[in-house]
Amino acid sequence: MDGLYGDSTRSVKAVGSEPVSGTPVVSPPVLASTFHLSPNEAEPLDKYGRYSNPTWRRLESALAELEGAAAALVFGSGMAAITSVLRVLAKPGAKLVVPADGYHQVRRYAKEYLAPQGVTVVEAASSAMCAAAVDADVVLAETPTNPGLDVVDLHRLAMDCRRRGSTLVVDNTTATPFGQQPLSMGADLVVASATKALSGHSDLIAGYVVGSHPDLMAAVEQERLLAGAILGPFEAWLLLRSLGSAGLRFDRQCQNAQALAVMLRTHPSVRWVRYPGLPDDPSHQIATQQMKRFGGLVAIELKDADSVHALVDRSALLVATTSFGGIHTSVDRRIRWGDPVSDAFARIALGIEDTDDLISDFERALQ
Ligand SMILES: Cc1ncc(COP(=O)(O)O)c(C=O)c1O
Repeated sequence: MDGLYGDSTRSVKAVGSEPVSGTPVVSPPVLASTFHLSPNEAEPLDKYGRYSNPTWRRLESALAELEGAAAALVFGSGMAAITSVLRVLAKPGAKLVVPADGYHQVRRYAKEYLAPQGVTVVEAASSAMCAAAVDADVVLAETPTNPGLDVVDLHRLAMDCRRRGSTLVVDNTTATPFGQQPLSMGADLVVASATKALSGHSDLIAGYVVGSHPDLMAAVEQERLLAGAILGPFEAWLLLRSLGSAGLRFDRQCQNAQALAVMLRTHPSVRWVRYPGLPDDPSHQIATQQMKRFGGLVAIELKDADSVHALVDRSALLVATTSFGGIHTSVDRRIRWGDPVSDAFARIALGIEDTDDLISDFERALQ
């Protein structure tokens, strides 16, 4: 289906139901913890809400479809999805490589929970992932990285991992399946936070794992069942509902990001801009080889912390938040969360406002 249709068509189709006369066009949520069992003890598909739920299945088949995977598993958060995969793959004695410049709580988990159990945790800059992956059992890559927006060469990393027998896991949160499909480039598993652009309305927390190795997916499913980091059926339904418009929203976010990056690149108040869609960005060449869209995040450095605060104060559209992918354009000064960036660094997460309005607002606010 990927070759046949564009991304908005794919997201609309992925959340549709079978056209059966008299049934709802979009499946309603199944809010149940407990299901009837048969008196003769034959196993029904659904027994108990931690094992499975019909709304999860609808959502999982839509996510698998969008990521080009055989199967998907939804989780209660992006961190639940990522840590579940790490617990399955990184056993005591294993060597795990995590990005030094990616989402900070992933390396905290690896250092604080996996390392004490005998996992060798190596933090590597995303630009040096391939070199760091030598002898690793598990490599977790994030691309574009949050917050620095460096792009990892996924074809090359996947080839290196395959040659050495390491398992490659890619965090696809910032790119989304509308930006890139890491499984098609050789990743073994994709993990992501669906809290961001896929849900897109800043109103729920969710995560997922997709893959096509049946044994690997079965192991992750067992882990979810036993650890219990499940997604509630109502959130699953909200996410399914949001997925239908995710392609459309992500397109606008990318369009806004590109226009803003171009404007900021020559603005006298801006020291530097990183956006993989800028032709002179250090990541542009690899990004054009592996990404269809360059994402809704722009990284900038202003003069100092006060300049970032002033930008938000003077803007009529910007809000200060520590998430991204929502409909509102927002700014986050990442140093406050411990990211290895300067005081004047800001991550801008583009929303779906009209592009011209945003550009004029930024111009006014930066004056
Ligand atoms: C790249 C990346 N991965 C994973 C996560 C964790 O997702 P969640 O907050 O849904 O647990 C985040 C959250 O910001 C993220 O930016």
